[in-house]
Amino acid sequence: MEELRTPKDSLAVMTQIVLPNDTNTLNNLFGGQLLSWMDRCCAIAAHRHCKRQVVTSTINNVAFKNPIPHGAIVTIEAKVSRAFSSSMEIIADVYLEEQHPNGSRIKANEGIFTFVAVDQIGSPINVPAIHPETALEKERYAAALRRRQLALIIAGKMEPNDATELKALFYPEESTQQPK
Ligand SMILES: CC(C)(COP(=O)(O)OP(=O)(O)OC[C@H]1O[C@@H](n2cnc3c(N)ncnc32)[C@H](O)[C@@H]1OP(=O)(O)O)[C@@H](O)C(=O)NCCC(=O)NCCS
Repeated sequence: MEELRTPKDSLAVMTQIVLPNDTNTLNNLFGGQLLSWMDRCCAIAAHRHCKRQVVTSTINNVAFKNPIPHGAIVTIEAKVSRAFSSSMEIIADVYLEEQHPNGSRIKANEGIFTFVAVDQIGSPINVPAIHPETALEKERYAAALRRRQLALIIAGKMEPNDATELKALFYPEESTQQPK
């Protein structure tokens, strides 16, 4: 029987302290450095889900909402939100530890990545399905299909007419096709 894999099983957590080499000219964390940390964390989550070699296919969206100052402690939590055939969407949530005694944290940034599982010669191979459990996981799972279709249209790999989920979003009454 196929093992039931959940987003929680793929969780990867990485904590870093922002040192001078990691900063930009405003003394905040350099965006490229954060991207590198997020990419690594997402790669670990993707690997934990499929147990195969994975490569970054696409960075679908990264929002640098809040600057992260020099000296800050940053935690990245990445989980697979949905698995397709060979590709997986991974969402990395970035948190910042607040500098006061109650130890609370705020969400600073978020990134959405697509990884592909590959064989020894780098060809895409199938990955197991994923079963979301929490309300947030279910919401992200559903939205992942819309994001995938949008990304594939932008990349010129899908015809807008085949984007069933996007059509269902904008023209609910016209949509009867099966999702791709
Ligand atoms: C990623 C890679 C393996 C894809 O190979 P490919 O032959 O182009 O494969 P496909 O076009 O069939 O795409 C593979 C999967 O990615 C998905 N995909 C492709 N472009 C995508 C995009 N822009 N957004 C979301 N998903 C995308 C496809 O839909 C497919 O998913 P599925 O199998 O779940 O349906 C290949 O392009 C590669 O090796 N790239 C270099 C990766 C790398 O080195 N990354 C490190 C940074 S340099």
